Amino acid sequence: MTPGLGGFGLLNIVGVIVCHCHGVSDRRIEAEAGLGASDADDLARRCGAGSDCGGCLPLIEDLLDTTSWRSVTSVQLAS
Ligand code: FES
Repeated sequence: MTPGLGGFGLLNIVGVIVCHCHGVSDRRIEAEAGLGASDADDLARRCGAGSDCGGCLPLIEDLLDTTSWRSVTSVQLAS
């Protein structure tokens, strides 16, 4: 393994920068999704990600799709 951020495990702590305009990492996006960020506009209001050039929006939308299940705290099943 080549020494680098990942080799020392730092990527597991800081994540990967997704929005370079605002320095927002995938970890922050996942955390905001867990706190209820429902879409890219909501995320932009919370941390600025995706609100400038928009180059990160496809990845942001993918991350929100894959992490949206975390915002559910309980589910009531119909009887
Ligand atoms: S890289 Fe996210 S708005 Fe530009």
